Amino acid sequence: MKEKKTLLIAFSTQKGGAGKTALTVLMAGHFHYVKGYNVGVIDCDLPQFSTYNMRDRDRKIATSIDHYKLMAFNQLKTLNKKPYPILKSSPVDAITAAERMIRESPEDLDIIFFDLPGTLNSEGIIKTLSMIDFIITPVTADRMVLQSSLEFASLLNDNVISTGKSNIQGLYLIWNQVDSRERTDLYDTFNTLFGELGLHVLKTMIPDRKRFRHELTEEVRSIFRSTLFPVDKQLVKDTNLDLLADEIEELTGLNAYGEER
Ligand SMILES: Nc1ncnc2c1ncn2[C@@H]1O[C@H](COP(=O)(O)OP(=O)(O)OP(=O)(O)O)[C@@H](O)[C@H]1O
Ligand SMILES: [Mg+2]
Repeated sequence: MKEKKTLLIAFSTQKGGAGKTALTVLMAGHFHYVKGYNVGVIDCDLPQFSTYNMRDRDRKIATSIDHYKLMAFNQLKTLNKKPYPILKSSPVDAITAAERMIRESPEDLDIIFFDLPGTLNSEGIIKTLSMIDFIITPVTADRMVLQSSLEFASLLNDNVISTGKSNIQGLYLIWNQVDSRERTDLYDTFNTLFGELGLHVLKTMIPDRKRFRHELTEEVRSIFRSTLFPVDKQLVKDTNLDLLADEIEELTGLNAYGEER
């Protein structure tokens, strides 16, 4: 039997607002509730701990509104699994937190997603990043975000990955909040630049959609961002989230373990 290791994936960039937390929650949900993997999340999004706190809010709503109570019950019955665990941690202790989660989880965890800040300003954080298998850095077509994300990815590439002493198997940029009115040659131009810098870009681009801001609320409507349920099928359309999950599954080799799940 193949030895199975929990895959560690982090959405990380030093720039705020690029989409780290949104992508963490959406991918964790898709892999756990739709693709059937066992997922965990380590939330290092200090000081707001967005994902951890979202779970608290989600739970309150899901236990007080009949529609969501029934959904949660049906989901438990059909999937035969609980919501994925979320632990809060400081970035420096994130790997220790992940090891604890792996030890304490009744199921073998396939993937742990980390919502990590991208500050490379301490040995501790660099150590954490160097223990992660795949790092995905969201970029948007905004000068500040681009500059900051590129700086982060280049530093990581030059000072951590190329030393050969890290666990990092891949560092990828991902275009997020893509504006369809923007000239497509703008993205092509940047992709060429990224290539020249030795940086890889994921094929999947995530468009700018208002629904990314929709959380579970007491008003019953289709679900988008939630830690308890997957994105509503109708709402996945034209967000490319399903394609992103497929691309991540492919490039990390996760699907090679398919028969064991
Ligand atoms: N593809 C998208 N389309 C529209 N809005 C988006 C998209 N991705 C993220 N957003 C929104 O942009 C805002 C910032 O995203 P998010 O909180 O995920 O960023 P972050 O990188 O985690 O920021 P921080 O560094 O502050 O933690 C949020 O309101 C989120 O809903
Ligand atoms: Mg965040």
